[in-house]
Amino acid sequence: MRKKITVVGAGNVGANCALRVADKELADVVLVDVIEGVPQGKSLDLLQSGPVQGFDVTLTGANDYEPTANSDIVILTAGFPRKPGMSRDDLLLANYDVVRTATEQIVKYSPNSILIVVTNPLDAMCQTAYMVSKFSKNRVIGMAGILDSARFRTFIAQELKVSVENVTAVVMGGHGDTMVPVVRLSGVAGIPLTELMDQATIDAIVTRTRNGGAEIVKYLKTGSAYYAPSAAAVEMAESILKDKKKVLPCAAYLEGEYGINGLFVGVPVKLGARGIEQIYQVKLQPEEQAMLQKSAAAVQELVDVIRAKHG
Ligand code: 2OP
Repeated sequence: MRKKITVVGAGNVGANCALRVADKELADVVLVDVIEGVPQGKSLDLLQSGPVQGFDVTLTGANDYEPTANSDIVILTAGFPRKPGMSRDDLLLANYDVVRTATEQIVKYSPNSILIVVTNPLDAMCQTAYMVSKFSKNRVIGMAGILDSARFRTFIAQELKVSVENVTAVVMGGHGDTMVPVVRLSGVAGIPLTELMDQATIDAIVTRTRNGGAEIVKYLKTGSAYYAPSAAAVEMAESILKDKKKVLPCAAYLEGEYGINGLFVGVPVKLGARGIEQIYQVKLQPEEQAMLQKSAAAVQELVDVIRAKHG
């Protein structure tokens, strides 16, 4: 039997997730959105690309969750995107309600699913989905680190004029201004970044990575990035469905790892059939650990607001 992925939110991120899942023939897709006609129209359009692209999966649009029943994975993208000048944190209260309502429905119809959260502010929305779903911590995972690392990798490859495939990069921490691109763990074909670039160039790339989402919001004006975010979410879904056990930076619920407790923060994890199968605790240098703590503190501030609302 084919696998089933529900994508909640038929906006740009959601529709591109559906497109990528179909193109990779990973699973049947149900696209859900509150706006009548949009998930139906987009999924029908996507379905009709099947004969050209050569995929045999079904795509269905819906305004309710009944057709999503027994999904293996749910990718949660619904929510308001930011506009120029807004931070991801400005979306907290509006998107809390969206994620809470969606999660209640996901639990009702797909109690055994694995949840991939994409909605911003990412780490706080993971916490919302985790609290509402009461799923085990390995089944609630946030998409951020792959996207942030992909931006870091892109800028490194551009600067050095090398293949992006040779560039590895690690970005940890919350998906916000305090994210932690770990330069020491990044490089090209095993060559440390510090041997390939001077410090000023590295610093500029780190800053551009931290502002990577805002750079795109500034161009688009009416919303935020969606091609790279959807690619990242679908890489996670693929690793889980195929039990590939890829090691990827994702937002995971930490219980003491890196000295962080009871909070979703981006760290390297192994993604397989059970969701998060391992959290890797890399030995960090004191200044890296301090940056991670600062980033976790920024996530904690948002989570405190949500906890007060959640009761
Ligand atoms: C980004 O960084 C939307 O948060 C997403 O572009």
